[in-house]
Amino acid sequence: MNLVILAAGHGKRMRSDLPKVLHPLAGRPLLAHVLDTARSVAATLRLPADVVVVVGHGGARVADAFAEYHGVRFVTQQPQLGTGHAVLQAAPLLKETEPTLVLYGDVPLIQADTLLALLRAAGDGVGLLSARTPDPSGYGRIVRDAAGRVTRIVEERDATDAERSIDEINTGILVAPTPQLKTWLAQLGNDNAQREYYLTDVIALAVRDGVSVAACIAPDASETLGVNSKAQLAQLERIVQERNAQRLMQAGATLADPARVDVRGEVKVGADVFIDIGCIFEGLVELADRVRVGPYCVLRDTIVGAGTEVAAFSHLDGCRIGASARVGPYARMRPGASLDDEVHIGNFVEVKASRVGRGSKANHLAYIGDAEVGPRTNIGAGTIVANYDGVNKHRSRIGQDVQVGSNTVLVAPIEVGDGATIGAGSTVCREVPAGGLTLARARQVTIAGWKRPAKKAKG
Ligand code: UD1
Ligand code: CA
Repeated sequence: MNLVILAAGHGKRMRSDLPKVLHPLAGRPLLAHVLDTARSVAATLRLPADVVVVVGHGGARVADAFAEYHGVRFVTQQPQLGTGHAVLQAAPLLKETEPTLVLYGDVPLIQADTLLALLRAAGDGVGLLSARTPDPSGYGRIVRDAAGRVTRIVEERDATDAERSIDEINTGILVAPTPQLKTWLAQLGNDNAQREYYLTDVIALAVRDGVSVAACIAPDASETLGVNSKAQLAQLERIVQERNAQRLMQAGATLADPARVDVRGEVKVGADVFIDIGCIFEGLVELADRVRVGPYCVLRDTIVGAGTEVAAFSHLDGCRIGASARVGPYARMRPGASLDDEVHIGNFVEVKASRVGRGSKANHLAYIGDAEVGPRTNIGAGTIVANYDGVNKHRSRIGQDVQVGSNTVLVAPIEVGDGATIGAGSTVCREVPAGGLTLARARQVTIAGWKRPAKKAKG
């Protein structure tokens, strides 16, 4: 089917350099939400989706941002002479054998089921999505005749007082048979208060031509809310986050407060997962059974194994954590960090591009970068793997059952053999053999009978 998404308006009220449809909602551009919904409608109907996005000011940026979305074409509307004029720009790309569904790049919450109901109601004729609202101001109103049939849409600025009191508004979303739509678009005039070519005038033309017009009232008016300002963007963000929280709870997660969790991507949860307040999930996050996430954690593109606890204020990005592990509070796991089962990573410990073997611990104030750490090894407080020589990064290997004393610097590349013990405060630059005690620090000396200098008398 033909899907036209209008996104040419400049969005002045956003007061932003960024084209309006690129503003993120739940971590993704507004337009991405609409595109996904459009595609899911087409997929449900087993129809190929031919998507045309009408862009205007900043259009190249929008097209660039969606370069990877195949099957999406962009047409430029310049100047912007109204919604009817916008659809007209897409007309040459619309297949006449398929109906055309018009959506809005700044109305991102619309649900596939609502659109499917609209398509069913429209049949071979025109379908328009309306909504009932206690405050219809600013919207076009649906005008019906005495028998309740839709006769036309009137824009607020062109409406009489009686028409303004109508509480059924036009959401803007409509579907129409494509050959007729093209004819009507070519016949639109701009004899109205805004001197624009209104898409909404297509309705009266359909009625004139005896084509049926079905107005479908949106079951939930909040789906049809548009984004015109930062305040509305924030309002929609709350609605999406509320939906996300409901989904998480339906999947079995316990949320300390559904109003205080933000999902900017997708979270998959096992049974009995607990998520405390203030957590942010980005990208794809998987939490296996019984995972507990403490307050104010940020998890991005991370997989956490069963029974693991991520304690307060931890930041996990691009990492994999095994089962029954403990991370945080205040831990930072950077991309490529991979913890096996039962690993403990404590406060102010940073792990990057490193694998830590089963049961190993780094409980306080350490940096593990570009390293392989074997199982059951203990990394003492303040240990640093000095992986960067100022020019290149080097990898290190620390064996199993190793004891690294506090405040050790392991200068990479380095190998530490199995069962080695390194004394606290060592700076090791050469291979540490297995088994023994390695010390690399100044030997402690005591000078017996040493006298402190006495203060000189003033003179
Ligand atoms: C439009 C409808 C109105 C409806 C309201 C719902 C018309 C004439 N009116 O009014 O009945 O109640 O939406 O929100 O259609 N756009 C373009 N090119 C243009 C003008 C607009 O691409 O030349 C795009 C905008 O980017 C936006 C959408 O069309 O995504 C709606 O435009 P907007 O100016 O907000 O229309 P409204 O006046 O609100
Ligand atoms: Ca609008």
